Amino acid sequence: MCGIVGYIGPQAATEILISGLEKLEYRGYDSAGVATVWEGKIHCVRAKGKLHNLREKLDAIENPAQIGIGHTRWATHGKPEEYNAHPHMDSARRVAVVQNGIVENYRELREELKQRGHEFLSETDTEVIPHLIAEYLPNSPTPDCQHDTPLLEAVRQTVNRLKGAFALAVVCADYTDELIVVRQQAPLTIGFGQGEFFCASDTPALVPHTSAVLSLENGELSRLTPLGVEVYNFEGSRLKKMPRALSFTPGQVEKQGFRHFMLKEIYEQPGVVRTCLDTYINSNWHPLAGEEEQEVASSQKPIHQSPIQLGIPDSLYENLEHIQILACGTSWHASLVGKYLLEQLAGMPTMVQYASEFRYAPAPLTKNTLTIGVTQSGETADTLAALDMEQRRREGLEPEYQPRLLGITNRPESTLGQMVSQVIETHAGIEVGVAATKTFVTQLIVFYCLALELAARRQTLTSSRIQEIIAGLRQLPTEIEQVLEKQDLHIEELAHEFTETQDFIFLGRGINFPIALEGALKLKEVSYIHAEGYPAGEMKHGPIALLDAKVPVVAIAMPGCVYEKVLSNAQEAKARDARLIGVTPMNNQEAAETFDDLLAVPTVEELLSPILAVIPLQILAYHIAARRGLDVDQPRNLAKSVTVE
Ligand code: F6R
Repeated sequence: MCGIVGYIGPQAATEILISGLEKLEYRGYDSAGVATVWEGKIHCVRAKGKLHNLREKLDAIENPAQIGIGHTRWATHGKPEEYNAHPHMDSARRVAVVQNGIVENYRELREELKQRGHEFLSETDTEVIPHLIAEYLPNSPTPDCQHDTPLLEAVRQTVNRLKGAFALAVVCADYTDELIVVRQQAPLTIGFGQGEFFCASDTPALVPHTSAVLSLENGELSRLTPLGVEVYNFEGSRLKKMPRALSFTPGQVEKQGFRHFMLKEIYEQPGVVRTCLDTYINSNWHPLAGEEEQEVASSQKPIHQSPIQLGIPDSLYENLEHIQILACGTSWHASLVGKYLLEQLAGMPTMVQYASEFRYAPAPLTKNTLTIGVTQSGETADTLAALDMEQRRREGLEPEYQPRLLGITNRPESTLGQMVSQVIETHAGIEVGVAATKTFVTQLIVFYCLALELAARRQTLTSSRIQEIIAGLRQLPTEIEQVLEKQDLHIEELAHEFTETQDFIFLGRGINFPIALEGALKLKEVSYIHAEGYPAGEMKHGPIALLDAKVPVVAIAMPGCVYEKVLSNAQEAKARDARLIGVTPMNNQEAAETFDDLLAVPTVEELLSPILAVIPLQILAYHIAARRGLDVDQPRNLAKSVTVE
């Protein structure tokens, strides 16, 4: 949430800052601003609304400054108005600051500063920061002042007064070749160029300039000068840090001919599913012959080779009795499918909790429990805080209650990656569209792999059944390609009929109930049409009262143990005049007779159907939103990484 960029080097800073902000606009887009230092003064330009408003203002000004900071905002404290946009400055306009996060004790600090004569121009929590830094700076930047690095020292003293989660970038008119950056529970990465350095809240802003990056850890601050990068902790001790290489390429953060990132990312799904499967399925594994399998089962020995290789140490699996999964939004939906798989394939009791709820009402402690945090960004504040709480409440207890944490993320370099010892990467590549698509299906693939690995260890499935499921998974990329090829145009045409629709209902059962939730969430997020997902069998317990000819019902009806039930539930809706749209297998006579419109997918066994069923729902949401002329990649009020509570 909120995007920060910074630059110091020989090039003109403004263009680098604004193009960096364009890459981070998915983090927030209700106002934006940049501050550069030029001819001993800070030049601060801010604009309400999306970035192009700021760009227009900047284009009208000539500014060759070679150092600056920028920000794109997702409002927390104070309305999205220009006066609340970052950067914020001190009264003398010598210090400029951009922040991502929340300063929780800003009210006390503001009162304290006001009593000393400081005046505030915004409603934000951030504005106290430049005022505090200004107080800690020496009156004149003389070489004989107490510290060699007075600006760094003033920022260090300031951050020690702040409570909350924040990342900062700071420039000062008196120190024209220094950029100070800070990380405290909000992401901040430094990029290393040739004689130039960058900083950003997220790597897409750095990818066009460099592949050498250093992600600060919590409680660290850094001084960037044209000569290099120094890293310190909040106590002021210098730390030794080495940059690492980024695996992303500039092409991954471009639209590559697609109208929107969301559509591009929907089309990337066959490729990323293939990559994820290739990474985790052990191609050297072969199922045991019947007798061999019986021998292994009766000896209770662990099987000699695993069909899946997630790289999870034995200690996380040892005597495992429960799994609890913590997540938000789309990741929570993926976790619900994960629960189904872990329970049905591996017989492992699994609980899924919204991280934001778990924080304040955690489930009672259970023994031998694996806690999995699922977050594509690895930065969702609630998920991180819930994991941290779980870690802390288990520390020091008897061995069977000790914390065992695992992360599933698309960004192993994220805060989550630093927080938990074991991470499973989803290998989806950077996702720019705010609505999650390809990261969702790869989260599902990881859950299939986890459930199979556990099933193999616990011998809850025969090896021939495991082989069958793996063969089915291997077919999925081709089957997703078929859906894209056959359905995209058809769904685009169908979408025209729903541009004025105000409510949608999505129904699913069993393993596809979470897909109904996800289909509804995608539609809400990008098209702003009210949509609800329900377990199909629950309709008659209340929601059916909503139905009439104006409320289309999308039912996921994939052959399997609940197929007939879903068809009956769909008929109940039809009897109330609802227009019925069915996500069904291709060439299915029964489905063709039941539904008014079909979103057909290849026939697969029920267990694998969520991955195919979600694709037409993503496409439907996309085309309805695009047809309504909405900003599909940056829907109103949303941000890609929700780094505030
Ligand atoms: C939906 C969406 C959000 C996120 C949620 C959690 O399209 O993007 O609901 O799923 O904010 O984000 P992560 O997975 O980064 O923790």
